[in-house]
Amino acid sequence: MLPQTPKKTADTEKQKRALFQRKIDAGQKIEPNEWMPSEYREMLAYQLTQKIYTETIGMQPESCWVARTPTLQRKVILLAKIQDEGGHGLYLHGVAETANIPREKITADLHSGKNPYSCLLDYFIQTWGDIGAIGWLIDGAAICIQVSLQRTSYGPYARSMIRICKEENFHQRQGYQIMIALARGSAEQRKMAQDSLNRWYWPALMIFGLPDDQASHLKDSMKYKLQLYSNDTLRQKFIDQTVPQIEYLGLEHPDKNIKWNEERQHYDSGDIDWNKLSSIVKAHSSCHARPRLQHHRKVHAEGSWVREAQHAYRQKQIQRKLNAAA
Ligand SMILES: [Fe+2]
Ligand SMILES: [Fe+2]
Repeated sequence: MLPQTPKKTADTEKQKRALFQRKIDAGQKIEPNEWMPSEYREMLAYQLTQKIYTETIGMQPESCWVARTPTLQRKVILLAKIQDEGGHGLYLHGVAETANIPREKITADLHSGKNPYSCLLDYFIQTWGDIGAIGWLIDGAAICIQVSLQRTSYGPYARSMIRICKEENFHQRQGYQIMIALARGSAEQRKMAQDSLNRWYWPALMIFGLPDDQASHLKDSMKYKLQLYSNDTLRQKFIDQTVPQIEYLGLEHPDKNIKWNEERQHYDSGDIDWNKLSSIVKAHSSCHARPRLQHHRKVHAEGSWVREAQHAYRQKQIQRKLNAAA
């Protein structure tokens, strides 16, 4: 067979790209082993990796509160939520495997610092009210993003989101239920609820990412339907849905500039202070040197015997098949 000329290769690449984009525009899914442009794979890898870190690092601070829950029922609920988050990390590792992004690489890049996780995950939890506010606001913000990802273009990613969203809904409800109990409790409990709302409202808005005009990959991400709506659109949805929830609790809105805009049919809100959060996290991290990363490294090392046992079992199965075939 004659070797392919450079011109022919370029034409084929162009055709493949055109076909790929047509498929995405038509709302069809991209499945594992299908051809995909390198930048699509890179964006997918980045999104999945960050989501895996959010699930697996994000469950850590909540686990510190298992021994301090106010009732046995709350303990059971919190344990179930933490287990769900670990499960979400596993589903997403499974999705990443289908796109040839090995679990070992995602973990190694986290441990080496090559792929850092969001500093939002280092924000520290101070009270039981924070556990309520996290479920309600942080998981609530994640739902806004994840619901839209049920229609993302990468098939396994979209399908994984169906179950994840169902479980995240439960997380939001349990968080809001903690807030209701505190808001209807003593003056001290009400204050705890208000403080937690004030602490976690702004980080929740930051989950949606930088404003659209500063988000460098947003355009490509939307072109490939790896993101269905812009950061600002999803953030606005969250802002709008949170106002009546705060009113129902009878708490004060942390944003003093929140105001209904009749013309836009949305709430106008104040500016997000992006520097404030990073300076709080930096001050905390300078004392503790990213303790959640250290903890992840430690637990991963302690679990090495499980991986070795799995590997040995797999080898045995292969050998057994080979012996049977011989
Ligand atoms: Fe989750
Ligand atoms: Fe969650």
